[in-house]
Amino acid sequence: MANPDHAELIKILNEAVSLEYTAAVQYNQHSMLLTGRDRRLFEDLFKDNSKESLGHAKMWGDRIVYLGGIPKAEVGAIRQSADVNEMLQMDLEIEKKAVDVYTRAHRACQHEPTRYMLENHILDEDKDVEELQKLLGKVQITEARPLEKQAAASQ
Ligand SMILES: [Fe+2]
Ligand SMILES: [Fe+2]
Repeated sequence: MANPDHAELIKILNEAVSLEYTAAVQYNQHSMLLTGRDRRLFEDLFKDNSKESLGHAKMWGDRIVYLGGIPKAEVGAIRQSADVNEMLQMDLEIEKKAVDVYTRAHRACQHEPTRYMLENHILDEDKDVEELQKLLGKVQITEARPLEKQAAASQ
């Protein structure tokens, strides 16, 4: 039986496992739906992210068992599109949910080694958010270029 101290953590980690399975299938579907030049540009990214998500499901499922729980095997709704920008947007939403769920798990975590694992893992998921936001052109570089700065200073 699950250690009662870890019941809330196990519940949230099970949400995470389900989200990782969803991400693994969604990225795999997106890799199949690519056509034209986008196939060359994005197929490896989608395939790699699918494998990575499956690895995360395994890693956190193993941890759930270690904490005395049973990993769920539920896959959420898969969102698909034939348009690569829509695919990236759908995948960005899943990655943002991943940052959120692991952050909630971190807050609920009373088990120190697992807390360290979660800290590292939040960084991994946030890196995926960063990459997808850059691919979607959602990152704005607001700092002025050096030449523009110089021109402004000499006025
Ligand atoms: Fe993940
Ligand atoms: Fe991720």
